[in-house]
Amino acid sequence: MHKVAISGTGVFTPEQIITNDELVKAFNAYADKFNFENRDLIERGDVASKDHSSSDFIFAASGITQRHVMNKSGILNPDIMRPQLQKRADDAPGIMAEMALDACIKALKQSGKPASDVDCIIVAASNHERAYPAIAIEVQNLLGAGGFGFDMNVACSSATFGIQAATDMIKAGSIRSALVVNPEICSGHLEWRDRDCHFIFGDVCTATFLERLDTINAPHFEIISTKCATQFSNNIRNNNGFLRRSLPAGLTDQRDMQFMQEGRKVFKQVVPMVSEHILNHLADEGLEATELKRLWLHQANKAMNDFIGRKVLGRTPEASEQPNILQDYANTSSAGSIIAFSHHSDNLNKDDLGLICSFGAGYSVGSVLVKYAG
Ligand code: COA
Repeated sequence: MHKVAISGTGVFTPEQIITNDELVKAFNAYADKFNFENRDLIERGDVASKDHSSSDFIFAASGITQRHVMNKSGILNPDIMRPQLQKRADDAPGIMAEMALDACIKALKQSGKPASDVDCIIVAASNHERAYPAIAIEVQNLLGAGGFGFDMNVACSSATFGIQAATDMIKAGSIRSALVVNPEICSGHLEWRDRDCHFIFGDVCTATFLERLDTINAPHFEIISTKCATQFSNNIRNNNGFLRRSLPAGLTDQRDMQFMQEGRKVFKQVVPMVSEHILNHLADEGLEATELKRLWLHQANKAMNDFIGRKVLGRTPEASEQPNILQDYANTSSAGSIIAFSHHSDNLNKDDLGLICSFGAGYSVGSVLVKYAG
């Protein structure tokens, strides 16, 4: 069995930013317009009026202050309330492949390896731009990489599940290296007209380069072990899919074709599931939580991360021990823990242990235990 390490990460961050205040202003204008246009139905009690959103609520409930998006103008237009992306010709790079390419180039640069050394590309994300051909194969082509590529989806846990798949293939010797890429255009599946969730997501793409330990010539993190778990729940769900036009409602606008969640239930059920998962992963390795120098958690909600950190470490973690990036990026689904890992891996000493953990719909939880090798 070969040993495996992460020798590079890359983050593509969209230039356009929406602050909470901008988001709330647009939502409130939409709500006022909706209430005016439906005033008779609302008065008769046939339609529920829409309440205003609030920046103070958003920050207090989530810790989010802004999000990056691929298209701001459509989302903030009260007549549109969704991103407006240009249709691209089939022979032009797709939008997800383009984001992925940027993140992959950054990850490879950090690892000091050329694209020709990449044996496998896994595009692991919550939503894929199309059904096929796989985005990973398009990225392989754009990058000039060899080997093979495939797409996978485990919602917010896609990155860590992808890292486990890549690690196992490198360990077994079927590949020498892999890029695990997480292009997340969460703005496409978010219902911007629903105040309960309109603030949750942002767009980004992350890439992680993994290779055999004996081929590395850059600072790296050795992967000690990975652990994945799933447990079925309908509390985070999106019913969009290829059967949509075959169903009675066809292509009409339907709420359940976007992200839906029972936020309170998710919070209550996922926090203990994740804390227990991390503690079990450490126990499998004969480790105590006190031996962890850093926790790079999924970035959905600040209070959620605070709870998990306290439960795992048995005390309130220092901000530097458990870095959050959600205040700037919002929830970027599978990419969140990798952004935290990529942006906050400094000030570690040789042999320090850290854990990347993502969790979400499924339910699903994946963890990657790493050792800094300098
Ligand atoms: N502005 C103002 N008020 C709002 C609001 C908004 N944008 N959205 C909801 N509210 C109101 C609600 O209507 C509710 O009012 P009520 O008490 O009169 O009924 C109140 O604020 C509390 O709403 P609630 O949804 O219970 O808030 P919360 O504290 O649970 O926070 C989440 C909501 C989504 C931030 C939180 O539940 C969460 O983070 N859950 C886990 C999310 C997660 O990790 N999901 C994974 C996604 S991949």
